[in-house]
Amino acid sequence: MSKPSQQLSKSNNQAVTAARLVAFSWLVGVIIHGRSINELLAASPKKEDCASALSVTTSGIASLEPQQRAFAKQLLFGTVRHYHQLKGILDQLLQKAFKQKDQDLSVLLMMGLYQLSYLSTADHAALSQSVEMTRKINKNWASGLVNGVLRQYLRNKQSIEQQLSSANTFRYSHPNWIINQIQQDWPVQADQILQANNQQGPMCLRINTQQISRKDYQVQLSDLNLESKPHPVAQDALLLTKACDVVQLPGFNQGLVTVQDAAPQLVVELLQLQPGLRVLDGCAAPGGKTTHILQRQADVSLVSVELSKPRLQKIRHTLDRMGFDCDLKCADILQQDDWWDGKAFDRILIDVPCTATGVIRRNPDIKIHRTKQDLKNTVALQQKILHSVWSLLKPGGILVYATCSLFKQENERQMHQFLQTNPAEPVVLAQHLATQLVSHSQLGYQILPGEFEMDGFYLCALKKPQ
Ligand SMILES: C[S@@+](CC[C@H](N)C(=O)[O-])C[C@H]1O[C@@H](n2cnc3c(N)ncnc32)[C@H](O)[C@@H]1O
Repeated sequence: MSKPSQQLSKSNNQAVTAARLVAFSWLVGVIIHGRSINELLAASPKKEDCASALSVTTSGIASLEPQQRAFAKQLLFGTVRHYHQLKGILDQLLQKAFKQKDQDLSVLLMMGLYQLSYLSTADHAALSQSVEMTRKINKNWASGLVNGVLRQYLRNKQSIEQQLSSANTFRYSHPNWIINQIQQDWPVQADQILQANNQQGPMCLRINTQQISRKDYQVQLSDLNLESKPHPVAQDALLLTKACDVVQLPGFNQGLVTVQDAAPQLVVELLQLQPGLRVLDGCAAPGGKTTHILQRQADVSLVSVELSKPRLQKIRHTLDRMGFDCDLKCADILQQDDWWDGKAFDRILIDVPCTATGVIRRNPDIKIHRTKQDLKNTVALQQKILHSVWSLLKPGGILVYATCSLFKQENERQMHQFLQTNPAEPVVLAQHLATQLVSHSQLGYQILPGEFEMDGFYLCALKKPQ
């Protein structure tokens, strides 16, 4: 755990305090109330996430300058990414655990430890701001304790880290069950995967080639000093050298571009879309693949099904922004009587619910929230969905199964098991794409996080016998 020596620029103390309070309220949401980072960033904070003093209000977040908002996000993502490591340190430092009602203090301390361990913030600033925060959350009584714990860390940093260094949870900052599962499934690549999960992924764009070529969009980005490069495998993708806010992207509101990792962009390549086909996107929100299908082949009859109503609205929003349309249905894909008109499909995509262990680098809260039981439940649900939609596919039709998971039970093994009772022919990627990818699976394509600048992802296409 080494800290950069460079000083963080400090505009003014008040703004920095406001940013820390916002980050703290988000962290309380994630760590104590089990909320996801995506959900928190998309919504206004809920009362219970804002800790006792409720110092952080919606207007507080909205009034942050972009630089302070970026700092708040850095604190949020960094503390969550290193949660298991920071928790290990905190447990060493505390003589006894906090009572339930004071769990927010452990959040505050982990945020302080993150700054002391990973950020270039001066130690005295991180320390005094953490103490100041106790007052902001109406827990003045804890200021001495927070001060003492953080100072003790600074004094004994080396010996504490030395003591913890043999524990895998500390070393990899992942929960044991995920470490064990990754080591079991990927004995050779486990170290590389666990490290990649703790790195920030690049911002990847999908250019709406119905409206503009990738090359021309790259010029538009460059005119705004946004540097990018074409993705080496995904042909609609551009990788930004430095992440930016979507509102800075030229033509975002006009639907010229969308943010999507390069790996899921390979799904359309396996679907072999042609004009006039009847296509089902069975687990569709937030609509990344629905819109990619329409972008590649506007002349298809596309039915997109999504269980969650709020998430369905996200698809509608993205369709409208990009100028596309399809038959959107809010339904459980398993309840065919509720949404199916009885006509079979030529193509089916099921981007099934999964443990999302391939996208931990973008959603580090997965490491805190997912459990081993979730894996079991998810595998069972995936299996049900797969069997259920297979019956809706025409003979000769293609089904693409996809997850953003790394676990073989959800991916390769799931497909092998399916093939035991449902004979089908695997469909492969076109040669020019396949040669650029190293798949770690004999059946379908398994991409590991960080490889080819992609997220961890699995995709497998099967052709139904005539
Ligand atoms: C991995 S996400 C799909 C991502 C999407 N394909 C995209 O590219 O934007 C899985 C989606 O399946 C939905 N889902 C879960 N169970 C479902 C069910 N039984 N029927 C329909 N949708 C379901 C979830 O709400 C979630 O939005």
